[in-house]
Amino acid sequence: MNIKTLLANLTLEEKAGQLVQLPPYFFKKEALQEVAGPVQRLKLREQDIFQAGSVLGIGNPQEMIDIQTMYLSKSRHKIPLVFMADIIHGYKTIFPIPLALAGSFSTQNFYKMARASAEEATLSGIHVTFSPMADLVKDPRWGRVMEAYGEDPYLSYHYAYAMTQGYQGKRLKNKDSLAACIKHFAAYGAALAGRDYAQASISLHDFYQQYDAGYRGAVDAGVRMAMTSFNVFEGIPATIHQTLLRKILRKRMGFKGVTISDYDSIIETVVHRVSQDDQDAVRQALLATVDIEMASGAYIKHIPTLVKQGLIDIELIDQAVLRVLKLKKDLGLFQNPFKGAHIEKEKSFPLSAPQLAIAKTLADESIVLLKNHNHLLPLSNQKIALLGHLSNSGALLGPWSWHGNREITPSLHSVLKPFIQSSVEDTQTWSEAFKQQIKLADVMIVMTGEEEKESGEARSKTNPVLADKTIQFIKQLKAFGKPIVLIVTAGRPLVLTPIVDDVHAILYAYFLGSQAAYTITDTLLGKNNPSAKLTMTFPRRVGQIPIMYNHLNTGRPFLGQNFTYTSHYIDESNLPLFTFGDGLSYTTFQFSQFKDASTNDDILLSITVKNTGTKAGYAIVPVYLHQPLAPAALPNRQLVGMEKRFLQPQESQSLLINIDRQFLTYIDDTYQRQPLKGKLSFVTGEETSLLYVHKEI
Ligand code: BGC
Repeated sequence: MNIKTLLANLTLEEKAGQLVQLPPYFFKKEALQEVAGPVQRLKLREQDIFQAGSVLGIGNPQEMIDIQTMYLSKSRHKIPLVFMADIIHGYKTIFPIPLALAGSFSTQNFYKMARASAEEATLSGIHVTFSPMADLVKDPRWGRVMEAYGEDPYLSYHYAYAMTQGYQGKRLKNKDSLAACIKHFAAYGAALAGRDYAQASISLHDFYQQYDAGYRGAVDAGVRMAMTSFNVFEGIPATIHQTLLRKILRKRMGFKGVTISDYDSIIETVVHRVSQDDQDAVRQALLATVDIEMASGAYIKHIPTLVKQGLIDIELIDQAVLRVLKLKKDLGLFQNPFKGAHIEKEKSFPLSAPQLAIAKTLADESIVLLKNHNHLLPLSNQKIALLGHLSNSGALLGPWSWHGNREITPSLHSVLKPFIQSSVEDTQTWSEAFKQQIKLADVMIVMTGEEEKESGEARSKTNPVLADKTIQFIKQLKAFGKPIVLIVTAGRPLVLTPIVDDVHAILYAYFLGSQAAYTITDTLLGKNNPSAKLTMTFPRRVGQIPIMYNHLNTGRPFLGQNFTYTSHYIDESNLPLFTFGDGLSYTTFQFSQFKDASTNDDILLSITVKNTGTKAGYAIVPVYLHQPLAPAALPNRQLVGMEKRFLQPQESQSLLINIDRQFLTYIDDTYQRQPLKGKLSFVTGEETSLLYVHKEI
């Protein structure tokens, strides 16, 4: 298929159509016949719909085949539709939410999740996923932190890179390859005060220093699509921001693919009061090189007029259409418009044993042990009382899991049942029977936190804390004098300060997906040794937000309460409750022999790690840059490399850690990334026994 020849044969309306994305509903007969549905509201004609280039949000092979067949029968040039959807952490087999998986400190795990997701989702006829979401996040008030990797640029870069590779596979043409879409460009995660869709509250310097890393990772891995964000960035809505999209994304980062707006974000620039009307919004988006418009249909309506009136150069439209046609060609859609869709396999492969096994491994490596007083966990054969409002729920998949089935997702209660001596369900009335049952138990397990609907898009909170009634419940349980294990399911870090001293152990599970209950059970009972580390800092108090490990120093760091004019709060410590990198294990590791082992090409550091405990487990070795002097202020600590290894008890291994040079840089006053020069200091190890390598670069 020669796409340039094809382009030359398209009418202006047909070109505009290629740049439009509509939901599947529009293609249904009923929608076309309805007098008051969205088709009528948008004043779209049947011919407009059958010229649209792509479909949003499908997950059913039969539906895809029907729509494509009907579409091709009506389309003059038979250019296949491309089907796109949000596959964020799995299709039907649901993997841990990205914020949880980030804690596994493993790029390999993100590759695995994306590959396994692509293998399932492509069976439903999806060709593009709106993932990875690589918005750097520091504010747990924002509901979408669950989709992100946390506060660290190095992790964001490498996770977005790995996910892109996992989705896109070896060749995009392969039937199990999904084109990836990096989002939301740019800085959507910096929403002011954590309120969704609010302006990005960062400077251009912050952007280049930290926030651009995830997007760069995906672009470097060859991501085929990029989605603009809803927010205003440096004064202009990102969706019509010419500097952002042309100069930064396409030129500076080298992105070569298709750009797509977020849902209605083009026409929303009218509400931002920077576009006069929808037509003006379309004009501005085109000038910014936004190729596909998601949802509103405004491109179909306004592109032809804009070109005819000379307000938009046809060359701009042609370039956008060519990019869309190239994506369709590279996906192999001209050869097979039904690529991937497989009615039988879509029923049997998702949730099959191998897929669930991947989900289990990833969940095992994502659960975080935050506290374990007197080695309460793992439990041996204590009598368990299982409590808490989420202990009987299968709603453990987390937001953005449209195709996940909560009905068949086991609850903790159903999996832990054989080990529960007294299962206490009546947690409301404190009846005598209830109290009696608790008295029979040796340990109380309380599973609580957030419901699924409390995080995700448009789920911002001013107060990301445990609910008052949960806090009261834990306080009342404390009176029984038995140890309490707290299991928190949530889409964000919650402030745990009010109960942290009342409970003996804390397992932070986030939303672990289809296998959540098995992972929690295995972790409680010691079959899984927890190894994950936090990638978002947990505040002591909401007023500390945003709080992150990689902040700058200030000229007046806190020295103690006697020093008034230093950077501190008078009503709370500067310190978080738990910080980036926190996470315990059932074993202990000793780190030694931290040395420079660089070659001519690579900066390599070697370290010896020994499992000094009695349980096998993963050791995670993060290496941070601590720069005593640099031309620009840098964080006190910045992750620049990591390794992870499974070690048997008493086993010792030497690991080589590759230091990523991209992070040995600073941003100068013209916003250029410059290499750091001179003596660099690398640090790793436990807080109490840090190890350093100093190296001249
Ligand atoms: C979200 C995007 C998502 C899109 C399509 C929007 O509301 O911001 O992340 O990809 O909807 O579902």
